[in-house]
Amino acid sequence: MQKCQSCSHSLIKSFSLGKQPIANGFLKKEDLKNEFFYKLDIGYCKSCTLVQLLEHPAPVKMFNENYPFFSSQSSYMKKHFLAEAEEIYNKYLNQNSFVVELGCNDGCFLQFFKDKKITHLGIDPSSNVANAAKQKKINVIDAFFDSSLASKIREDHSTANLIYAANVMCHIANISDIALGISKLLAKEGVLVFEDPYLGDILKLGSYDQIYDEHLYYFSATSVENIFKQFNLELIDLKHLDVHGGSMRYTLAHKGQYPVNNCVHETLEKEKKFTNNQSLKNFGDKIQRHRHEFITVLKNLKSKGFKIAGYGATSKSTTVLNYCGIDNSILDFITDTTPIKKNKLTPGTHIPIYGREHLDSHTVDYVILFAWNHKKEIFEKETKFKKNGGHWIWHTQ
Ligand code: TMP
Repeated sequence: MQKCQSCSHSLIKSFSLGKQPIANGFLKKEDLKNEFFYKLDIGYCKSCTLVQLLEHPAPVKMFNENYPFFSSQSSYMKKHFLAEAEEIYNKYLNQNSFVVELGCNDGCFLQFFKDKKITHLGIDPSSNVANAAKQKKINVIDAFFDSSLASKIREDHSTANLIYAANVMCHIANISDIALGISKLLAKEGVLVFEDPYLGDILKLGSYDQIYDEHLYYFSATSVENIFKQFNLELIDLKHLDVHGGSMRYTLAHKGQYPVNNCVHETLEKEKKFTNNQSLKNFGDKIQRHRHEFITVLKNLKSKGFKIAGYGATSKSTTVLNYCGIDNSILDFITDTTPIKKNKLTPGTHIPIYGREHLDSHTVDYVILFAWNHKKEIFEKETKFKKNGGHWIWHTQ
């Protein structure tokens, strides 16, 4: 039985999403022969309550020069990161601060600090996104963050007043070493702020597609508190965010440096209802029922001669497509605006991916919105499809 990545206790297997390929492993035809699969099983740690994957592919299989996710693809996410940077700056920082971002991607968040001429450093192991940030003259190290890099940054620069990470912490296998690194690098009055999809939302919305190889952990305030207290870091504030299908922003500091906001106590109390293995087992049963219903609906539509496509070749869609067994016999194609995904095939299910314009030049009756977390933004611009009699489908509640 696997051990918890945070506290080393044995894990309990909660449920499974079966055999899955690399979620962002979009394929060219010539790559089909060598496709890699692993078992997507979800485990629970009774000791620290951390929900995590039991098995996961090596990081370099996921985060490399072909990493296809660029934060700036979504104008809403760009606005979100700007607002985050401004809020955190006003609350905790000043002109002399040193800001470090783990997994800075193409520099959406650090841009604010660069523009203000505040000392900053981004760290990202995916060279293509890191290069996009470098082109914007943002300071970036092309590497995986760990405790030895934390010591080096401290020596070369100074301690950090802000360590920030968005949708990154849940990706890092050795979370204990990261927490150790953060505790070394964080200044005495510095803050660690990070956001990730929230376990409470996943369970509530039935958004099992948040579960894929890159997301090793499904955090709650309870598990975050337990992970970081081992390194004398204290959870001092929380903010629920609408992004990425429901996220939580956690603020931590060295113990005793800041008062603990009441919302932390309230959330920890509320979470007692679902931070247990029975809730996860119930969730596993619920999504099995969903799979049956979803595939029945799609097969019925197909048998009536309707044409179905997908919108957004998201990493989340890989989980849905492979878990439900939806392939090219059901979906004609998926559209996506990310250039690196165009003219490739979806991982495991091999559905062709085309640019957004493909939807205008091909008659489609139903479109599955795989990028459902960008629903507001997408529906604001995609009014024509519905006006012409098209129907949207999405699977979350
Ligand atoms: P995400 O759910 O992980 O943010 O990925 C969103 C994907 O959806 C990404 O590949 C870009 C794509 N997308 C579109 O194709 N059109 C859009 O309007 C938006 C917002 C995203």
